[in-house]
Amino acid sequence: MTAGSKRGAYRVVLIPGDGIGPEVTAAAVAVLEAAAATHGFRLAFERHEAGAGCYLRTGRAMSDETFAACRAADGVLKGPVGLPDVRLPDGTEAGVLGGILRRGLDLYANLRPIRLLPGAPSPLAGRAPGSIDYAIVRENTEGLYISRGSGVGTPDAVADTLLITRRGTERVARFAFELAQSGHGAPRDGVRRVTCVDKANVLRSYAFFRSVVAEVARAYPDVELECRYADAMAQALVLEPDRFDVVLCENFIGDILTDLGGATIGGLGFCPSANIGDAGAYFEPAHGSAPDIAGRDIANPIATILSGALLLDHLGEFDAATAVRQATARALAEGLVRVVPDGRLASGCQAAGETIARLVADAQGGDPP
Ligand code: NAD
Ligand code: IPM
Ligand code: MN
Repeated sequence: MTAGSKRGAYRVVLIPGDGIGPEVTAAAVAVLEAAAATHGFRLAFERHEAGAGCYLRTGRAMSDETFAACRAADGVLKGPVGLPDVRLPDGTEAGVLGGILRRGLDLYANLRPIRLLPGAPSPLAGRAPGSIDYAIVRENTEGLYISRGSGVGTPDAVADTLLITRRGTERVARFAFELAQSGHGAPRDGVRRVTCVDKANVLRSYAFFRSVVAEVARAYPDVELECRYADAMAQALVLEPDRFDVVLCENFIGDILTDLGGATIGGLGFCPSANIGDAGAYFEPAHGSAPDIAGRDIANPIATILSGALLLDHLGEFDAATAVRQATARALAEGLVRVVPDGRLASGCQAAGETIARLVADAQGGDPP
C-alpha cells in the first residue's frame, strides 16, 4: 500500500508533556513535518497541555476538552508526562495519563518494538544491528494496573488487585499473533513466534492468562507459541535476545521488560510505542520525562521520532513512515546523530531532529515518486 487512507490534512493532537517532553516532541514534529511535506499530505498539529505541569496549574492532569480532542483526532503524539514530586494524596503520581487515555479509550495493546539500530551503543557484546528485533505487546488495560486509582487500604495495609479477564487476554493475544504472522520471525531462526511471559508457576491469574493465550494460539498454527516465566525472561532478553519475535505480557510485566529491553539497544531513548485499540490509538516514547536531563538538549528523541513513524503507519502513510525509519537509521549509522553509552545524545536533541528531517527530505528529493 503506498497511499494514505485519508489524503489531505490529518488532525494530530500534540501533547508535549513534562521534563524532556517538549524537547523530544519538537524534534519529532520537525521530522514528521518533513515527511508530510515530501509525501504529499499535511499534518495539522493541535497542541494540548496535559501531565504534571497541567495538574499543578489546573488541578487536573488532562482536561475533558483534551480527552475529547484525543478521541476525535486522526492521531495523537504524546510526549512523556509526570514528575516524581507531583503526587496525589494516596502517594501515586498526579501527572501520569495511562489511567485516562489507555483505559479511557480502551487501548488494549501497547506495542513496544525493541530494535537494535546501526550506530546505537548496545552494552551487549557482539550484538550486531538486526540481531535484536522483537516487539513487546503489553496488555494495556487490566492486569495489575486494573487497580490504578482504586486500591484499598487502612493506615497499616494496602492492597492492589491483579485482574485477568478472558476477553482482555483474548484480544491482546490475537493482536500479538497477528503481529507475528505479518512479520519476519525471530532474528536467530526466522521462526514466527509469540513468547507468553507470566508467573504461571505462582499465581492463578497468570496461569489463566497463559491458558487463554494457548487457546487463542490454536487459530494461528503458523506461529509458534512458547511460554517463559518473567524472571527467567529478564535474563533471556540479555543473553539470547535474538530468539524473540513477539513477546506478550501482562501489563506490569510488560512495563518492566520494556525498559530492560531498552537497555539492550542503547537506552530508553530508542523505544517507541503505540497504544492501540479497536477505535483509536496514541503514540509516545516508552520512556518517562527524565527530569534529570531536562532542558539540556541531551535527550535522545529517537523514541519519539519512531513513535511518529508508528503514527504515520496508523494514518496509512506507510511510505512516509518508512522514510522516517530509514532516515533515523542512516543518521545513526553515519554518525550524524551520536548516542553515548549512557543513552544521552552527544550531538544535540534539536540537531538530531533537524538532521533526520533533512535526510527525510533529501531521500525523497533524490528518489522522486
Ligand atoms: P525515565 O524514563 O524518565 O528515566 C529513566 C532514566 O532514563 C533516566 O536516567 C533518564 O535520564 C533516562 N532517559 C529516559 N529517556 C531518555 C532519553 N530520551 N534520552 C536519554 N536518556 C533518557 O524514568 P523515571 O525517572 O523513572 O520517571 C520520570 C518521570 O516520568 C516519572 O514521573 C514517571 O512517572 C514518568 N514516566 C512517564 C511515562 C510516560 O509518560 N509514558 C513513562 C515512564 C515514566
Ligand atoms: C510506561 C510508564 C507508565 C506505566 C507510568 C508512567 C504510569 O512507565 O508507559 O511505561 O507504568 O505504564
Ligand atoms: Mn514504563
